[in-house]
Amino acid sequence: MRTLAVIALKGGSGKTTIATHLALAAHLRGLDVLVADTDPQKSARDVLSSREAEGPAVVEVTGATLLSAQLAAQGLKKDLVVIDTAAGALEDVSEALVLADYSVLVVRPTLLDLAGLARTVVLVRKLKKPCAVVMNQAPVPREGSEAPVVRRFLRGLEYMRVPVIPVVVRARTVYQTALETGRSAEESADEAAKAEITALWDFVWRDMAMVLGKEP
Ligand SMILES: Nc1ncnc2c1ncn2[C@@H]1O[C@H](COP(=O)(O)OP(=O)(O)OP(=O)(O)O)[C@@H](O)[C@H]1O
Ligand SMILES: [Mg+2]
Repeated sequence: MRTLAVIALKGGSGKTTIATHLALAAHLRGLDVLVADTDPQKSARDVLSSREAEGPAVVEVTGATLLSAQLAAQGLKKDLVVIDTAAGALEDVSEALVLADYSVLVVRPTLLDLAGLARTVVLVRKLKKPCAVVMNQAPVPREGSEAPVVRRFLRGLEYMRVPVIPVVVRARTVYQTALETGRSAEESADEAAKAEITALWDFVWRDMAMVLGKEP
């Protein structure tokens, strides 16, 4: 079993969107997935409980009960646990970081997100845990050219020397509409969004395997 945490200290960056999409990607590929929702808002639970078809199981946990949920998942022979975390919840985030094999740090291309990321990276480095950053809600390139805000942001990430996932998740309405019924953008007709999520899943699953020294 592998455990993946989705983290950002800044609110609204897209943790729940990315966490539920990764959980659904794993489920659609035949893995047995549990989502551990540590956010008191319970957005991941709300999203996945609105799904009609079979989907990932969800448990509501706190930082303190995360370990017992993880052990229960292991007993149930789950393949993957995805932890969705709350913004600013430093203690729960630390707990999730400690228990996860790998963490995805979600950021929008804004200076405030970059500041939040810097604080998260300090924590991750202290705990010596593997992680990678995904840029979410980035503007769609115009005529093949990245918006200056995105280019500047990528330079900021270089300064931080933090591993960056080579897949940018763009601002697309389908990420909102699909999740309204608990579905992934991979299950939608939006080819661009589908390709983003497929590439994101492929990278995260392989990178996590590499970090753990296992076959993907
Ligand atoms: N790539 C995207 N394209 C368009 N909208 C997005 C995208 N990612 C997230 N959103 C929207 O942005 C809002 C915040 O996203 P989400 O709830 O996933 O963030 P969060 O980090 O989990 O927030 P919170 O800190 O409240 O837990 C939601 O309305 C969501 O639909
Ligand atoms: Mg959330």
